[in-house]
Amino acid sequence: MNLTDIKTVAVLGAGTMGNGIAHVFARAGFNVILRDVDQRYLDRALDTIGKNLDREVKKGKLTEAQKPGVLSRLKPVSDMAAIAAADFVVEAVPEKLEIKRAVLTEADQILRPEVILASNTSSISMTALAALTERPDRFVGMHFMNPVPVMVLVEVIRALQTSDAAFNLTMELSKKLGKTPVAVSDAPGFVSNRVLMPLINEAAYCVMEGVATPEAVDAVMKLGMNHPMGPLELADLIGLDVCVDILHVLHEGLGDPKYRACPLLKKYVGAGWLGRKSSRGFYSYQG
Ligand SMILES: NC(=O)c1ccc[n+]([C@@H]2O[C@H](COP(=O)([O-])OP(=O)(O)OC[C@H]3O[C@@H](n4cnc5c(N)ncnc54)[C@H](O)[C@@H]3O)[C@@H](O)[C@H]2O)c1
Repeated sequence: MNLTDIKTVAVLGAGTMGNGIAHVFARAGFNVILRDVDQRYLDRALDTIGKNLDREVKKGKLTEAQKPGVLSRLKPVSDMAAIAAADFVVEAVPEKLEIKRAVLTEADQILRPEVILASNTSSISMTALAALTERPDRFVGMHFMNPVPVMVLVEVIRALQTSDAAFNLTMELSKKLGKTPVAVSDAPGFVSNRVLMPLINEAAYCVMEGVATPEAVDAVMKLGMNHPMGPLELADLIGLDVCVDILHVLHEGLGDPKYRACPLLKKYVGAGWLGRKSSRGFYSYQG
């Protein structure tokens, strides 16, 4: 399969990441089959994509005249059989192995043999996911960043079994989306979370030990290291529960105590202080 053979892309899961992934493929001229389990998730995703396209028009990234074309390329479906028409697939269903297993094995049976299956997982082993399918050499990681239409990076992750052809095609496809792909081998947390999560964790330890307030920790990193967001603001945006889950994956997968989740992070998660999504984390978002 060549880049020019890819005309239709299926995106499995229309949540936070799936709607963004569908958006960037449709914007780049691909037909997109967007699949979720229920019509209301598809409606929500199309609503979000419409709003995000409006924002891009306002910023001059897209013309008003281009918007209907982008929307017309999106085909929301709840029937998995509809993905048979896809030439490339990106999976973005919830980060639970059992859900991924069910979705990937079902998709694997429906897709043509030459079609590449990519996963957007942030922490599950690509090699283990590849092994669930009958196309492990055509399985690859495509780790988009949130918010997908805005962030330039795609970490393209090579599972142990990924062929050179599938890997190279995924790198090329990422460039066609206007993204900058970076090649990474499969390992817990890849590069993004392996480097980011210890930073967030250490920032949480600084707060727990009374070294500084969250505002002070974030100010040091923004003003002194030129980070656009402080690590604790970013943790609140990602979700403190997601951070703890990823730290567990790093701790277990790499076996090094340096990845142990900070007790304060775990305490906040226990209290239901998950960050922005629960209106409270290191900061309060009430009102
Ligand atoms: N949120 C992030 O910042 C982020 C960043 C990078 C990677 N990821 C990864 O992306 C993936 C998706 O995360 P998300 O934040 O978009 O999750 P989400 O919960 O927002 O969305 C998941 C969607 O998948 C749907 N779904 C569930 N079962 C399905 C099925 N069988 N078939 C099709 N759709 C199904 C759900 O209804 C939901 O709409 C995860 O693997 C996550 O680790 C997330």
